[in-house]
Amino acid sequence: METKIINDISLAKNAILNGDVVAMPTETVYGLAANALDENAVASIFKAKGRPSDNPLIIHIGKFDDVYTLCREVPPVALLLSAAFWPGPLTMVMKKSELVPDVVSAGLDTVGVRYPNHEVAIELIRNTMPLAAPSANVSGRPSTTTAQHVLEDLSGKIEYILEGGASSVGVESTVVDISGGEVRLLRPGGISLEELCQVAGNVTVDKAVKELIDNKSKVSSPGMKYKHYAPKAEMIAVCGDSVEFINSKIDKDVAVLCFDEDYDKIEAEIKISYGSRFDYKAQARRIFDALRYFDKTPARLIYAQCPSETGIGLAVGNRIKKAAGFNVVNMEGN
Ligand code: TXA
Ligand code: MG
Repeated sequence: METKIINDISLAKNAILNGDVVAMPTETVYGLAANALDENAVASIFKAKGRPSDNPLIIHIGKFDDVYTLCREVPPVALLLSAAFWPGPLTMVMKKSELVPDVVSAGLDTVGVRYPNHEVAIELIRNTMPLAAPSANVSGRPSTTTAQHVLEDLSGKIEYILEGGASSVGVESTVVDISGGEVRLLRPGGISLEELCQVAGNVTVDKAVKELIDNKSKVSSPGMKYKHYAPKAEMIAVCGDSVEFINSKIDKDVAVLCFDEDYDKIEAEIKISYGSRFDYKAQARRIFDALRYFDKTPARLIYAQCPSETGIGLAVGNRIKKAAGFNVVNMEGN
């Protein structure tokens, strides 16, 4: 199968209605979408990405009211959060209805729902149906924020990639579980923890957000236990004032992911910067492209400067630490 990047939404629409899988743009990252209510179509998503079947998918909707058909219980906080953040980079996990096939939720009795803020995605969904979509990367690889990234990963595996420009947020949605009477942060993302707290009050942070969860333990969000976002080279995350430390480790095939301000000070031959130390939103837009860059170089080991955990910095740092398998060096300062 030859994979084509297309601009024509009606081609994507027909493919979805035919039970096929299509890559679609969203404001966070590209998604690998199929009819959420068609078990076979959803099974094809798992196959194309090589995703473990115990890792549930989220469902993308194009109008709020669809939560009432997809979810058995819609707690009051869902109305508050959706009013504040939808359409946008927030996924809410709620008790699923009978309508949602078990393959979507990987056998859990909950389902994650998101109303994306991207006009191409919204038009596709409104002209088809709710779409199940994980990030459109090969399982374990960095997520994709351009049609070209999707092609790198999924060429030959899907027919169409719907073009929608570079994703404006650049990290995936924030995932909160609201099915158990509290708001639990399962994955930091495009909506910050501070913003969530302003609307929802108390938010519990799941421990998988900050530490490595071993494969055998039970986790609230199955996706958190897998190695993620990883370039082919081994990675070490470095937090705090890290230039001197990193420079002491440089060797021929040791690469560095750094902030703009530090680029000239880093003595590595293979290096890329991904935004100002102070601009978490810029870092978010560039992090996955930067992680993908190293695969085109002979890098064997990558030192990555990690932002502080403020705002979207929490999500950016989480992606870097996960790519490093939570191999983290903490220095003084910020
Ligand atoms: O921004 C995004 O969320 C992107 C775009 C395409 O919308 N999608 C995305 O999907 O990142 P995915 O599958 O790569 O990540 C979804 C995360 C996974 O960690 C998964 O385990 C978790 O959400 N998740 C999905 N359904 C869940 C559920 N019912 N309970 C707990 N965690 C769930
Ligand atoms: Mg993903």
